Amino acid sequence: MKRTVKDLVNLKGKVVLLRVDFNCPVDTLGRVTDYTRIIEALPTIKYLIKQGAKVVIMSHLGRPDGYEVRMSLWTVSLILMQKLNSKVYFSNKVIGPEVRERIRSMNNGDVLLLENFRFFKEERACDMAFCRELAGMADIYVNDAFGCAHRKHASTYGLARVLPNAIGLLTEKEVSVIGGAMEEPKRPFVAIIGGAKVPDKIKILKRFIDKADTILIGGAMAYTFLLANGVTVGDSVTYLDSVSVAKEVLQLAQEKGKKILLPIDHVVVRKNDKRQKKIVTENLAEGMVGMDIGPKTVKLYAEEIKKAQQIIWNGPVGKFEDDKFREGTLKIAQAVAQSKAFSIVGGGDSVSAIKACKCEDKINFLSTGGGATLKFIEDGSLPCIDVIQEKIR
Ligand code: 3PG
Repeated sequence: MKRTVKDLVNLKGKVVLLRVDFNCPVDTLGRVTDYTRIIEALPTIKYLIKQGAKVVIMSHLGRPDGYEVRMSLWTVSLILMQKLNSKVYFSNKVIGPEVRERIRSMNNGDVLLLENFRFFKEERACDMAFCRELAGMADIYVNDAFGCAHRKHASTYGLARVLPNAIGLLTEKEVSVIGGAMEEPKRPFVAIIGGAKVPDKIKILKRFIDKADTILIGGAMAYTFLLANGVTVGDSVTYLDSVSVAKEVLQLAQEKGKKILLPIDHVVVRKNDKRQKKIVTENLAEGMVGMDIGPKTVKLYAEEIKKAQQIIWNGPVGKFEDDKFREGTLKIAQAVAQSKAFSIVGGGDSVSAIKACKCEDKINFLSTGGGATLKFIEDGSLPCIDVIQEKIR
């Protein structure tokens, strides 16, 4: 068991470098459009404030190549100030004499947010000299950035190697809920997997074949599986190199007595004219492109979801980013929300679908991770959590 922030004693007056994941969606003007990750980081921040620590917060936002005003964390500092209802200081530098001076002048319980770490090339390079310089300004490192615990960067990984450390309360919750559901699932356990590329999902599919009872496949990936099953898929997105892998997955599921369901009807458009939608059952003719699951598939999947005692859902079942092809994913979101099963939803689009249906309160756990959640399900651990010290028993 990893040491958590609650295992740290005598935090009063200590400088705590806290890594959170404030990588929130922003619009073209740099305005944050979804505060979830900020809200989810509050319990650890408030706990540290209450203990009298000097809280220095680090995060990244987006994937900038050098400084980009739209990705500055300055706007996030204003939102954080509003959510904490107390002053949050901001520094556009992350190391150097000015930052050291700002930290030296902090009072117990003060909060300082440092600028987007991805503006600095040392972050992604996990530069250890940079880590040591940061570490020199602090006493303790706390990682509560579950959403990027699969990235071995300076602020997510390197710092844990040079400072006494612990995980935060959000990371603790993510690990315990998702880890617990994978280790001791309630049965029947239904996994819903969407997305595009089979190679990217192969490990998670194999892990679900081991752990789940039924796997519902949607999204563009479904067409590679249908092809492997001998169904014609017209001009839908497929990965021909992955057909043999898809066959292997289907074979493995059969050997282990696990059920894999594939779409039985589709919302399609013509390759040359994407405006007209129609529903096609079974085989897709040449020139047809599958964009979403059809109503019969929704019904079939909803029946499985209804029987479940536990559900893990990751990835949309159609081209969710296009308004015209959202319906299948929204219907799956409603079915998951209506089910009595213990439900975990992760990944940007699946979580957005739940929010679009306004049924967040009907889901047992909405993970803040996208890629990190997938990686955690696949491997059962994440490098930035592995590097944290164990609890002293
Ligand atoms: C995420 O949003 O999944 C995390 O913040 C990681 O972001 P990244 O994929 O840009 O590393």
